[in-house]
Amino acid sequence: MNIVILAAGMGKRMQSSLPKVLHPLAGKPLLSHVVDTARSLKPTSLCVVYGHGGEVVPQQLAADDLAFAKQEPQLGTGHAVMQAAAHLKDGVPTLVLYGDVPLTSAASLQRLIDSAGNDKLAILTVELDDPTGYGRIVRNGGEIVKIVEQKDASEAERAIREVNSGILVAPTAHLKRWLTTLSNDNAQGEYYLTDIVARAVAEGVPVKSAQPAAVWETLGVNSKVQLAELERIHQRNVANALLERGVTLADPARIDVRGSLTCGRDVTIDVNCVFEGTVEVEEGASIGANCVIRNAKIGRGAQIKPFCHIEEASVGAASQIGPYARLRPGTELGDDVHIGNFVEVKNSQIAAHSKANHLAYVGDATVGARVNIGAGTITCNYDGANKFRTVIEDDVFIGSDSQLVAPVRVGKGATLGAGTTLTKDAPEGKLTVSRAKQMAIEGWQRPVKQKK
Ligand code: UD1
Ligand code: CA
Repeated sequence: MNIVILAAGMGKRMQSSLPKVLHPLAGKPLLSHVVDTARSLKPTSLCVVYGHGGEVVPQQLAADDLAFAKQEPQLGTGHAVMQAAAHLKDGVPTLVLYGDVPLTSAASLQRLIDSAGNDKLAILTVELDDPTGYGRIVRNGGEIVKIVEQKDASEAERAIREVNSGILVAPTAHLKRWLTTLSNDNAQGEYYLTDIVARAVAEGVPVKSAQPAAVWETLGVNSKVQLAELERIHQRNVANALLERGVTLADPARIDVRGSLTCGRDVTIDVNCVFEGTVEVEEGASIGANCVIRNAKIGRGAQIKPFCHIEEASVGAASQIGPYARLRPGTELGDDVHIGNFVEVKNSQIAAHSKANHLAYVGDATVGARVNIGAGTITCNYDGANKFRTVIEDDVFIGSDSQLVAPVRVGKGATLGAGTTLTKDAPEGKLTVSRAKQMAIEGWQRPVKQKK
């Protein structure tokens, strides 16, 4: 099958300089949703018709399996499909999709494709309580005879509630021929793709219809209001799928998945969490309220407490993170690691049972097992020009408010006294302290306010 995706329309009502089909839904351009669904149908050829917004669309979507046809000016949906004609192979049918209708399921499209077979025209239609604006499906004795656009419809035709979703499958050789015969003698002065229906009927080519599983599968985006509505529908679908797989969601209306979220058994997710990219949460883990987690893996039974920001990081089993922790790219935590409030970790490996419970920065560090990093500890990894690593071996105890000036190494079992500024390696098993000795000044007196 050939697939053509129409994406040349200008989307004026989006009030944006970004082409409409590049506006994101669930973190991904509308058009990419359609392209991904199209790909899942394994087409022989896949072509996007673009126009408004110039070359940004082909630039952003460029891929080996995608052809692009430019439509300029935009003279209607029929004219749009015509621009893709060179990419359509005659021996297989052609499916027409819209780049601004992102949520059509592959299953519904497959039903449409099946009803078209190789030699029939098939249209995806829906019944709407308010069909205003859509092309109406005109039937005679149950058979489709034509599609009439809102602006060209008679009073009686406007009363029809079955509408054209715009998505259709046509036998390709017929389609190409019909397209060359279209005229723009209509209310909008456009070459209507929908006029091929009357052509098919005139030639005795059967015209069938199929219905999607849900009406929202056919909804398009013309404005930010509609974009927001479809985003909510999509997020609710994602939430329902998670619930069905056994994930506990405190509120399915307050989770946003912009990418793919995979959860093991008995995962709990509290309200207002955002998951981006590819996130995996293993069995028994829990995510507290208001976390943002992007491209990360959360190990078995780990607890992510509220308000954590985790990006390109992996958290070991049974670890405890947060509240208010930030795990930046390259963070790899072993099992049972504790990262507490206002602790930032970047590009560091921290082995099992180690803890940094309060107010610390661990960057470009290799931290062993059972290490305790005291409050206020900072790895000084950056000299203003270059970054250096800090190595903290197993069983180290770092006293509070220490600075480790990298490159530096703290030997196995070493202890750093509180307030140490470490500029040379600390030997294994010893106490290293760098601070002025404490003293008490005998006879010192507090100044008193002078009399005038
Ligand atoms: C079209 C259908 C109508 C259907 C409705 C469903 C026609 C004549 N009418 O109407 O029956 O009920 O969709 O939403 O087909 N596009 C181009 N180039 C163009 C014009 C449009 O690429 O020259 C693309 C748009 O970007 C959009 C799609 O085609 O993705 C539909 O265009 P739109 O103008 O929204 O069509 P409607 O007039 O709403
Ligand atoms: Ca439309």
